[in-house]
Amino acid sequence: CGIVGYVGGTNKAVEVLMGGLRRLEYRGYDSAGIAVIDEAGVLNSVKRAGKLAMLSTELQNHPVNPGRTGIGHTRWATHGGPTDENAHPHLADNGKLALIHNGIIENFGPLKAELLAEGYAFESETDTEVAAVLLGREYQRVGDLGEAFRSVVARLDGAFTLLAVHQDQPGVVVGARRNSPLVIGLGDGENFLGSDVAAFIEYTRRAVAIGQDQIVTITPESVTVTDFFGTPVEVEEFDVAWDASASDKGGWSSFMAKEVSEQPDAVANTLRGRIVDGVVVIPELAEFGDDALARIRRIVIIACGTAAYAGQVAKYAIEKWAKVPVDVELSHEFRYRDPVLENDTLVLSISQSGETMDTLMAVKYAREAGAVAISICNTQGATIPRESNAVIYTHAGPEVAVASTKAFVAQIAALYLFALHLARVRGTLSSAELLEQTAELQAIPEKIATTLLQGDAVRQLATWMTDSRAVLFLGRHVGFPIALEGALKLKELAYIHAEGFAAGELKHGPIALIEPGQPVFVVVPSPRGSAHLHPKVVSNIQEIRARGARVIVIAEQGDAAVLPFADTVIHIPLAAPLFEPLLAVVPLQLFAMELATAKGLDVDQPRNLAKSVTVE
Ligand code: G6P
Repeated sequence: CGIVGYVGGTNKAVEVLMGGLRRLEYRGYDSAGIAVIDEAGVLNSVKRAGKLAMLSTELQNHPVNPGRTGIGHTRWATHGGPTDENAHPHLADNGKLALIHNGIIENFGPLKAELLAEGYAFESETDTEVAAVLLGREYQRVGDLGEAFRSVVARLDGAFTLLAVHQDQPGVVVGARRNSPLVIGLGDGENFLGSDVAAFIEYTRRAVAIGQDQIVTITPESVTVTDFFGTPVEVEEFDVAWDASASDKGGWSSFMAKEVSEQPDAVANTLRGRIVDGVVVIPELAEFGDDALARIRRIVIIACGTAAYAGQVAKYAIEKWAKVPVDVELSHEFRYRDPVLENDTLVLSISQSGETMDTLMAVKYAREAGAVAISICNTQGATIPRESNAVIYTHAGPEVAVASTKAFVAQIAALYLFALHLARVRGTLSSAELLEQTAELQAIPEKIATTLLQGDAVRQLATWMTDSRAVLFLGRHVGFPIALEGALKLKELAYIHAEGFAAGELKHGPIALIEPGQPVFVVVPSPRGSAHLHPKVVSNIQEIRARGARVIVIAEQGDAAVLPFADTVIHIPLAAPLFEPLLAVVPLQLFAMELATAKGLDVDQPRNLAKSVTVE
């Protein structure tokens, strides 16, 4: 869910809240709502099921009274379906208090029973309304929102960010967080709260991250942060590196189209300043010292979704260059299976948002078990970096489309920097080899730009495939995770059943799926760089061709050997084998996007998904 809070300028609240929700909508778009305290001191709330546009229309037809204090919410349904009633804010204390929530309150059942027994009534099925009613009851008892919050959070189990306003305290927004994101934006005569900095980036770039189990109170002139017991805590301000225009569509048909096109910059910005005279420099890791890194005996990469595929790609590079064994695991599987961790195990988490609850819990678990945790993250002020020993930021800029694209290539770039750094401190690559690989890495942005020129060819392909019921993706070596990522993109965006397979595994089962006309994408390794693998993949192609598959190959420019066996060829520029994924993924992203567009689907906000999943 996306959360925004505002207090400040006269009549400004609705504009700020709706602008913030627009930029946070990627966090959930089942329903949305706002609550504003008007100039007469009366709380007004409007909420609607459906995308934010439904709420905007409602506000155009029936504007709420303007005010200077308010909260807004865009929802990804957990408890209770996406209906008007279940949308946030939830009201309590005779409509004088409004509350919004992100997360899950696990003990809402007994709390609700307690309140029902006292005669309180509920309008929704949500756990959130239980927190609202509880807060309303406490407010009546103590007459102060901050104090009421302190006693309520003490009774809640689970993960939550809560924001509330009360009409008897106009000019105040109070928030609390446990394991769910919340960031403060510092303005001049106004202050902001948001799930992430995108919420207020249009107004201020001064931000403060709030720690675990803390309560924040904002007024136009003040920001106070305490722990759950009311003891003030020190906070640290940071400057937001993103600029406001970066989170606008800027003339593109979709955020995804824009973000796919930004991939050369996403990689270039992630590399910027981190390769000096061919040597990788990662100041963020300085505190470990080279000795500590050299002592690492094993790396476990944890992530979910697209980020996990970036991890799978990196496994090949880390093992080849730095000679450290790497396991890649989905965070939620890792966390709950008693994994063996020792203090020479490095846990490397990857998360664009830095908020994915599954990954956050896995990082916490790993640290408690004694492992060192480093995170790769794209969002400043996010929780996972705060819970890690160190963070290497990707500099892809804000990613708004739900399906990850530019963050993926930036993650691979950051992981490769890390792998080369590790190879240097461990002495597993010579200076000449390091120089060669950093030069390859630095050439990638331009090669991605060249790959993007394949857009038209991919579009044509997508147009004739709109009726396909299933699409298969094959790859070998680093092409295998790319096949998985290509399939994920197609599922997410075009709702087509898609599967990625290791090409070598085909004959062990998946080949039974091949029937005449079945479209199959094959990521073909370079005939120069992977001379041993190329003929094997070409044989795999022949096997499926013989059974009637329609084969679309992604092959290196000039690969003549594959041509006779392909129905369609999409070319990528020449690159060393480990760098091919950064190029081969691009046509697959474009394909999923074009196919979804041809089917008339919303590529930025696919059904049922949310970009930042802050529940387990
Ligand atoms: C969600 C998104 C995916 C994303 C995954 C991990 O499931 O829909 O696109 O890859 O989360 O997100 P993260 O922010 O941790 O990279």
